[in-house]
Amino acid sequence: MNTAKKTDLSVERYTITAALPYTNGPVHIGHLAGVYVPADIYARYQRLKGNDVLYVCGSDEHGVPITIKAKKEGITPQQVVDKYHAIIKKSFEDFGISFDNYSRTSSKIHHETASEFFKKLYDNGKFIEETNQQLYDEEANQFLADRFVLGTCPKCGFEESYGDQCENCGTSHNATDLINPKSAITGNTPSLKETKHWYLPLDQYQDWLREWIVEGHAKDWKPNVLGQVKSWLDDGLRPRAVTRDLDWGIPVPVKGGEGKVLYVWFDAPIGYISSTKEWASREGKEWEPYWKDKNTKLLHFIGKDNIVFHCIIFPSMLKAEGSYILPENVPANEFLNLEGNKLSTSKNWAVWLHEYLEDFPDKQDVLRYALTANAPETKDNDFTWKDFQARNNNELVAIFGNFINRVLVLTHKYYEGEVPAAGDLTEVDEATLMMLKKYPQIISRSIERYRFREALMELMNLARLGNKYLADEEPWKQIKDNPERVKTIMCIALQIATGLSVLSEPFLPFTSKKLKTILNVSSSDFSEKNLIENTWNDVSTKTTLLPAGHQIAKAELLFAKIEDDEIQRQLDKLALTKKANETEHKKIEPQKETIEFEDFTKLDIRIGTILEAVKVPKTKKLLQLKVDVGIDVRTIVSGIAESFSPDAIIGQKVTVLVNLSPRKLRGVESQGMILMTETPEGKLAFVEPVINNLENGLIIS
Ligand code: MF3
Ligand code: ZN
Repeated sequence: MNTAKKTDLSVERYTITAALPYTNGPVHIGHLAGVYVPADIYARYQRLKGNDVLYVCGSDEHGVPITIKAKKEGITPQQVVDKYHAIIKKSFEDFGISFDNYSRTSSKIHHETASEFFKKLYDNGKFIEETNQQLYDEEANQFLADRFVLGTCPKCGFEESYGDQCENCGTSHNATDLINPKSAITGNTPSLKETKHWYLPLDQYQDWLREWIVEGHAKDWKPNVLGQVKSWLDDGLRPRAVTRDLDWGIPVPVKGGEGKVLYVWFDAPIGYISSTKEWASREGKEWEPYWKDKNTKLLHFIGKDNIVFHCIIFPSMLKAEGSYILPENVPANEFLNLEGNKLSTSKNWAVWLHEYLEDFPDKQDVLRYALTANAPETKDNDFTWKDFQARNNNELVAIFGNFINRVLVLTHKYYEGEVPAAGDLTEVDEATLMMLKKYPQIISRSIERYRFREALMELMNLARLGNKYLADEEPWKQIKDNPERVKTIMCIALQIATGLSVLSEPFLPFTSKKLKTILNVSSSDFSEKNLIENTWNDVSTKTTLLPAGHQIAKAELLFAKIEDDEIQRQLDKLALTKKANETEHKKIEPQKETIEFEDFTKLDIRIGTILEAVKVPKTKKLLQLKVDVGIDVRTIVSGIAESFSPDAIIGQKVTVLVNLSPRKLRGVESQGMILMTETPEGKLAFVEPVINNLENGLIIS
């Protein structure tokens, strides 16, 4: 890693964090694309600029998903996190994610740091202590919070929202807000039971948050982040419990906290701080400047489901504590899909990093490249294997690799690998060198605005510049009659190749290293002398990046073509997963418990006709219907929008349960329920009344 340090006062300090991954499974391409690669590009870039960079992360080892996984596998939560911490850590190393420290939240230093943090807020009266009713599973003997409870989201009507957050609309809520809550452990409907907890009164931070983010960062934060923050503030913040009745986590360190632990979202972000402390004590440095010096720039790289925690809850915690700086920016990405479907750990719909490396050893940079070129920066994006192949074959091989290969091969062919000296420069030469010098700034501009796709495209434009230069100057045609001119051409081409070796480092660290080794400007052998070190800014300021007379090493290909059969194998693998998931879902539901005739007669079922249908805004599933049910025309909200378009069902005869007690979905009161069922293939179908209109006739089928 290049750690050029500026010596003057212009050195800036950056504390860069990447969301701590949950340690309940390995990491996949979605994690890499959304968080770790962009953060890594940023960190590597700032290091190359000579800034003082600390890039930290670690495993998020508490929380309900881990205890659920442990229960499922019949092992302890500690065994779960030990297993996945090792796998995740290795995947990050394998992909060149250049953390200065990768810690874990089950570590001693973290338990101490998080406890102290809580204690300080407690001692300073920053919490509200409240006893109230919480969801309780009688059979499991356990309070239900967060992912232990599923139910209908009060905001969007999504039926599988978690207790703390809805994955459909991103809202964060309290478990008791869910409609129709069900225990994720037993499937039972929970009861309510009293318990005491500590709450962070977020409502008291509302005005301050608005001023700091909405007014203070309107220009420099990403629109997707600002949008979410505004929407929460507009909805009004409420006190949020920061403790839980669980036995896996950090014990609540105050009187009355026995048997309770800190809420995982309280302890996890403090993990950034503990990771910093761990790093500092190992390196013999001070940790405080990275978290308390007003001149330090703190950046949180996260996925969009983490926005509320990093823009509202954690900053409020830091503010309450009083001695910390606040994030300068929270560049959150949207989600990556895989071949048109949402990535899913539980459905195994993913490209796991450790499996990718088994199939494509030494192609870490190809994945980094494809994920950056297609990063979900402003909207959800799709990863496809075809695109991956095309990015490799048509861009890395055909543009970057091709240019470098021509330069290396010709340098060996004409000069036995010795960099030739340039003679008089033509106008084209001057313009080409001038362009090369502009690239650090061009790419910087994009990186500093967190536009990594754009930055990568510019890097490729530099390789294109090199290709065009060679194609126009045609050294291979001039070598016989004009060998002096060819020396100039090759010298310039070698400068571009060297520039690429420097500027590609944040994006393609393995390729950059390989190229530097071939150009003989860097070596793992420290005994080697006269190595040439170029930093980011040197590409703009130095007259020569690679001096005449310098000997380069043997040529090697940087990239190799990926064949169709390699891609087909990946597609086949996904097809198998899809099939496995479908057979699992095809399982015909067993008959439900018998009910009595009296139960049945309570249902008032009538024939209705759909008169109007419109989508409920900002929901995926809900249609708002006007239905004539014979006694009146009423509004019914139905979760069928993914199966039926509004226009197609006008006039549809339906069967309606009319005496179901009305309930509000997304602010619309639904006065009844349309009866639906599923076909054996799992398709949603109307229970359609068949009406005999023939006088005295029978419908016979
Ligand atoms: N584990 C969380 C997730 O994967 C992220 C935690 S980020 C931290 O969504 F700030 F809490 F560390
Ligand atoms: Zn929702």
